[in-house]
Amino acid sequence: MSTPLNPVSIITRKRDGHAIDPDDIARLVAAYTREDVPDYQMSAFLMASFLQGLNDVEAAALTDAMLHSGTVLDLSDTPGVKVDKHSTGGVGDKVSLILAPIVASQGVPVPMVSGRGLGHTGGTLDKLESIPGFRTDLSMEAYKQQLEDIGIVLIGQTEEMAPADRKLYALRDVTGTVESIPLIAASIMSKKLAEGIDALVLDVKCGRGAFMKTEEDARTLAETLVAIGEDHDTPTVALLTDMNIPLGRAIGNWPEVAESIACLRGEHDETALMEVTYALAGEMLALGGVADTPKAGREQARNAVGSGEALDCLRTLVAAQDGDTGVIDDPSTRLGAAPVATVTAPDGMQGYVTEIDALALGHLAVDLGAGRRTKEDDVDPTAGLTLNKHVGDAVEPGDVLAHLHTAHTDQVEAFSASVRQAYTIGDTPPERRSAVWDRYTASGWEHA
Ligand code: URA
Repeated sequence: MSTPLNPVSIITRKRDGHAIDPDDIARLVAAYTREDVPDYQMSAFLMASFLQGLNDVEAAALTDAMLHSGTVLDLSDTPGVKVDKHSTGGVGDKVSLILAPIVASQGVPVPMVSGRGLGHTGGTLDKLESIPGFRTDLSMEAYKQQLEDIGIVLIGQTEEMAPADRKLYALRDVTGTVESIPLIAASIMSKKLAEGIDALVLDVKCGRGAFMKTEEDARTLAETLVAIGEDHDTPTVALLTDMNIPLGRAIGNWPEVAESIACLRGEHDETALMEVTYALAGEMLALGGVADTPKAGREQARNAVGSGEALDCLRTLVAAQDGDTGVIDDPSTRLGAAPVATVTAPDGMQGYVTEIDALALGHLAVDLGAGRRTKEDDVDPTAGLTLNKHVGDAVEPGDVLAHLHTAHTDQVEAFSASVRQAYTIGDTPPERRSAVWDRYTASGWEHA
């Protein structure tokens, strides 16, 4: 018979830098999921793990404990190779909203379980819920049925699916314990492997606005994620992508949905946002068996946008999950909900935008109302900002830099100052750089 669980001893062992027995990790996670261990003890464990790290055995035990905290879905009855994508988190990262319909429109089933905003980064779930009426709380039966019927379903974690991650994710968000390679890897892989997918593509973000600030850490995270996927017989590909500057122009839930719709209409095809989206889509279409290579998959993805098939697929998805398709056809009817302020370039701001600080704008979006400071906070679905000037654009004093969408109209001066500070201006346009850096699979690293 095993000894009773002693959370304090696990916390102190980890605090003092000792390894934790995998069995103790499994029991701690199970007890926390049942609410037999309170948030304050789990927070202490997370902080000790954050500071001391987890070795590979502990990280694998944590992933498995979180994966088996609920049902691991079996989608083998659903025809096709089920492929999903997950991002390690970024600013303005609305890729899933564009990517999932592109891939599903090509006949690859996409079952996607997403998270909420985390720290300064947004979450797909909060974005989806900014579509009036859109339901993310489908039952497991409805999830499976919708996947069979229309080949795409996007939901949040349920009580049944990786519930430990849902609870731990919310706790990490408000306890300063997000930026840890093993905690991020366990979080992502537990919920993704619980979805019943056959293959996975990961967007591992690197830079100022990512949780991994250095390339070395981002590469280690990619390697950790792919190793966990392969250990669970799930072919996994990771792309390393740039998160120094915001992805796209919109940051905030509804503003990002509106931008995604424009992308699916083909309006932003030559941007970094679409470069990342098409690269990920190429990987998914190749893994899903409908493209011969990731490169061919990229072309197929472009065609899916050009032909309108991908936008049609988004409309079908929104209708299936009770969302208002009227705002998909005319996004302008929704944005009016949040008061808007305009931020202009001050005297002396003249030249070309060379950098935009993604981290600063991610924090600003939270201040505008688009993110949470405590677990209980509600997000304002229409809050956020839309950049009018992006990297490479010319700027002169008086030009509009950005529009702010916020109910906190009394703080617009301070918000505007933060936007201006986030811009770096140079005398010459910066060199165009690729947003997709490298690719990692079980065979190793290669240029993407
Ligand atoms: N995305 C997740 O799902 N979990 C993390 O911990 C970070 C990003």
